[in-house]
Amino acid sequence: MGHADQNKKAGNGEPNSNAAVQPEGATRCSDQSSDVKVKTVTCSLTGMAPLFTPIKIGGLQLSHRIIMAPLTRCRASPNNVPNTKLSGEYYAQRTTKGGLIVSEATNINPQSVGHFCAPGIWTPEQVDAWKGIVSAIHAKGGFIFLQLWHVGRGSHSAYQPDGRPPVGPSPIAIKGQTSLPDGTEAPFEVPRELTVEEIAALLDDYRKATNNAFLAGFDGVEVHGANGYLIDQFLHDGSNQRTDKYGGSIENRARLLFEVVEAVQKVWIDAAGAGTPKAANVALRLSPFGKYQDMSDTHEAELYGYVIPNLNRFNLAYLHVVEPRVSAGPDAIAVVNNLGKTFSGPLISAGGYRPDDANQTVMDGCKSNPPRAVAVAFGRLFISNPDLPLRIFLRTDLHNYDRSTFYTHEAVGYTDQPFLKDGEIADHIKELREAQPDNEKLQAAIDGEIQMLKVQV
Ligand SMILES: Cc1cc2nc3c(=O)[nH]c(=O)nc-3n(C[C@H](O)[C@H](O)[C@H](O)COP(=O)(O)O)c2cc1C
Repeated sequence: MGHADQNKKAGNGEPNSNAAVQPEGATRCSDQSSDVKVKTVTCSLTGMAPLFTPIKIGGLQLSHRIIMAPLTRCRASPNNVPNTKLSGEYYAQRTTKGGLIVSEATNINPQSVGHFCAPGIWTPEQVDAWKGIVSAIHAKGGFIFLQLWHVGRGSHSAYQPDGRPPVGPSPIAIKGQTSLPDGTEAPFEVPRELTVEEIAALLDDYRKATNNAFLAGFDGVEVHGANGYLIDQFLHDGSNQRTDKYGGSIENRARLLFEVVEAVQKVWIDAAGAGTPKAANVALRLSPFGKYQDMSDTHEAELYGYVIPNLNRFNLAYLHVVEPRVSAGPDAIAVVNNLGKTFSGPLISAGGYRPDDANQTVMDGCKSNPPRAVAVAFGRLFISNPDLPLRIFLRTDLHNYDRSTFYTHEAVGYTDQPFLKDGEIADHIKELREAQPDNEKLQAAIDGEIQMLKVQV
């Protein structure tokens, strides 16, 4: 696969700004003399392509904007304890100095589980196991947020500690089949409706899980409000037909989301110490117009038109948006773009990105009025390219992913993915240098960038 292949997006991508190092005279992320601040965020010119400009996320200064997306890989034990050695190696392989990883979705309590061998964060044993993984990332100068997860009606009685049906906002089942712990498939079940008392207990479990994430050493937490899981099920009227204060109006359906974010943020700030940089590291993931797990709403644009601007009061580290590029048409994409502008903090955009359109998205953010601080999360390409930021920087081939190993429980397809070889790296650095022979500043920037990205290898 040649260089051009880096930029073929799954779906409808058009190749765009091509160089990892921005060529002289090309449009740049912003003007050095007039760095623009959007709240806590500076979007500055370093002479590098947009993805390789630094960005401030919460209390963290990131060295580049290639984020590792949350990726469930089911390599924990059957009782949801992460495998410190195996997953420590997997995450460390994908760590760059000053880069951000969002962990795989992690269950907050036993009831929240719906995937065999997914990790949890509710027992001391799980916290200890995570500590080893987090320290492997920190040892290489990287950062990791934990994604807090409750699957709601996406579970099955076979996963439930009391053997009862899974919980959800309303007794409406997902259509289709799910995988059970014994490897067989079964239809999703009709969930039982969470009571208001149970919702209060659920908020407590989010609090405990958040505190545990802090104890495990995570740099921050991301609330999973996307992809048809519990919080998303409450948001959408296709899955939420309650008549109490958690159902009916958009405000009521968004209540659980805001209560979770508020509860998580309070615990995190108390643990980190109000006013410290780390206290700012609470984030949220949403998937407007996503259809996964039967999400539907009669007024989707209005739903997110209420939710997104109302998040501003939390001063989140970032809002992570799974773009509806695959699941919805151009109207939805335009709506989500516009809604992104109503959020005052940094945005992380995810969904089907290839390097060129990722660079373009970051650049569009910087050039918009007012400028937006944008980073891009890569999922599947990070599975199959452990050194993805270095590959993007050097404009090398990207290795294809193999779906059949996404959720298996072993090292194959997990820690055995190929790194660039030293000789290949040297050749590509030479090519980059030769493209800019007279630009000393850029030559120095290349050296600095390679130092940061090469900790992966
Ligand atoms: C194997 C796999 C596991 C995933 N697990 C999660 C997860 O735990 N939490 C989450 O929010 N999204 C999850 N996603 C969605 C990804 O984070 C990402 O949004 C999606 O793959 C689109 O990005 P991509 O085209 O770069 O892969 C998963 C996707 C894949 C392929």
